[in-house]
Amino acid sequence: MPEVLSDVERTKLLQADDAEFYAQPRFVHHVERPFRDRLTRLYATELADGHRVLDLMSSWVSHLPESFDGEVVGHGLNAEELAANESLDDWVVQDLNADQTLPFEDASFDAVLCAVSVQYLQYPGAVFADLARVLRPGGVCVVSFSNRLFVQKAVRAWRERDMDARADLVCRYVESTGAFDAPEVVREMAGSEPFYAVVARRTRE
Ligand SMILES: C[S@@+](CC[C@H](N)C(=O)[O-])C[C@H]1O[C@@H](n2cnc3c(N)ncnc32)[C@H](O)[C@@H]1O
Repeated sequence: MPEVLSDVERTKLLQADDAEFYAQPRFVHHVERPFRDRLTRLYATELADGHRVLDLMSSWVSHLPESFDGEVVGHGLNAEELAANESLDDWVVQDLNADQTLPFEDASFDAVLCAVSVQYLQYPGAVFADLARVLRPGGVCVVSFSNRLFVQKAVRAWRERDMDARADLVCRYVESTGAFDAPEVVREMAGSEPFYAVVARRTRE
């Protein structure tokens, strides 16, 4: 499958390995409280108890509703952050810019979440294709983002776009898989921060 981003579009200002950049844990919030609360409310509408959830590009927080009663698997780059995440039942460290094949069975998740991180993916076509593979038909993918970022680690395609064009880009990532129904875009303000989320459902077979 051809990649969505060209070689130029996937370039980052800081070329160093992602594993190196994320070697030190960051126990900080990457978005403000109103954004986090809005994301939790969105998750509450998309998740049901008993769901098996993959939190892709996770850290020490997953923004899930406190009442959520299901299995949560975390995936990220920093083991200390993931070990400190109280929402996770299990977790795995994997650099998605080095290897885009997720270490999970086909159709083994009801939901895949990716919070405020999609801008760091250099091979989003391959990642979203594999994300679709691990999602069951009818399962949901929620990709959220604000206007905040580690600018030196975001791909050029993200840096050069405004918020609406970024939403279009994430929709292209989803659509490139051919595995999802038409994605919906949530665009609002959450406090002083833009809240964007692309919500896509895996096509039922
Ligand atoms: C801005 S933080 C967001 C963390 C978390 N999702 C949240 O909502 O706070 C970006 C996360 O993306 C993950 N990440 C960045 N580059 C990655 C890569 N190449 N492969 C896998 N994960 C990556 C890092 O582990 C980091 O925790």
